[in-house]
Amino acid sequence: KLTNEELREKINEYKKKLSVTVVAHFYQRDEVFEMGDITGDSLELAIKTKEDKSDYVVFCGVGFMGQSVKVLSPNKRVVMPKAACCAMATMIDGMQFDASVKTLNEAGIPNENILPITYINSNAEVKAKVAQMGGMVCTSSNAKKIITKALEEGKKILFVPDRCLGQNIANQMGLKSCVIGDGSNPAESDIICFNGFCSVHQLFSVDDINFYRKKYPGILIVVHPECDPAICDAADFVGSTSQIIKYIKELPEEQKVAVGTEFNLVNRLRPKNTYVLSSTKPECPTMNETTLQDLYDILKSIDEGAPLNEIHVDEETQKWAKIALERMLAL
Ligand code: 13P
Ligand code: SF4
Repeated sequence: KLTNEELREKINEYKKKLSVTVVAHFYQRDEVFEMGDITGDSLELAIKTKEDKSDYVVFCGVGFMGQSVKVLSPNKRVVMPKAACCAMATMIDGMQFDASVKTLNEAGIPNENILPITYINSNAEVKAKVAQMGGMVCTSSNAKKIITKALEEGKKILFVPDRCLGQNIANQMGLKSCVIGDGSNPAESDIICFNGFCSVHQLFSVDDINFYRKKYPGILIVVHPECDPAICDAADFVGSTSQIIKYIKELPEEQKVAVGTEFNLVNRLRPKNTYVLSSTKPECPTMNETTLQDLYDILKSIDEGAPLNEIHVDEETQKWAKIALERMLAL
């Protein structure tokens, strides 16, 4: 078994030898994140990787992210050191999307009055279906902008899969929202959300916020919009991963801050005065699956001409999912 030091050395040798770009999301383990040639949040990774010229993208993250790279650049070979799936993205498939549209139809909303928007945390099949109905993708960085644009069409928004992001944006914009199955009439809402969620971001509670505010008066509470609306309402700042990083970088060093998002990211934000907004370690289990050993193994498999965990998307799905992503990027 190789030590991390030996693995790092061998990974760097492969990176020099092969036409590969290692891409890593902010939630990856530190030792994997440090090997990234391109790092960022989901939106930044989608944009930066599109410009990349190597033959292989080695994507350290979760499935929908690697899949988005493949969809945007079908000629690239995209491999993942671990075939890890975001739990939220697995909550909705094409059939469940169709069933959600049907629920809206039954509430008297015809297809021509529905504009679907899918959070990038969804599989290519769902993105393709959304595009076929005239909709597009959003990320937590641009959700408000995309929804503002979509509302100009005067339609109801079907927002999948994250109910929290959908409701939080609706609250920020003073719009009415509901969750499919919550007993309310979708026809009375502007944004109708699918009942998906991120279990990592559900770990934070208003009690945690009260605890920190009592312990450190003046502390700032910063959270990701995948947290429950009650948490976002009580926070001082709500933002995507990159927005959180930027916000915290600009704070004076002595300003205390408690952050409600994934542990690996929070842990490398700032050396002092930074707390995790939870007594339970908020680690994303699937983001944490990728290890240095996996990264080494995948590079070795490329070198040997038999790459492991390569992503494939069928042509029709790829074509439509690309339209959904490109509509977002055009904005
Ligand atoms: P970002 O869009 O902020 O990278 O978030 C992705 C994600 O999975 C958050 O849980
Ligand atoms: Fe998915 Fe949540 Fe993990 Fe993000 S933190 S990848 S939304 S399970």
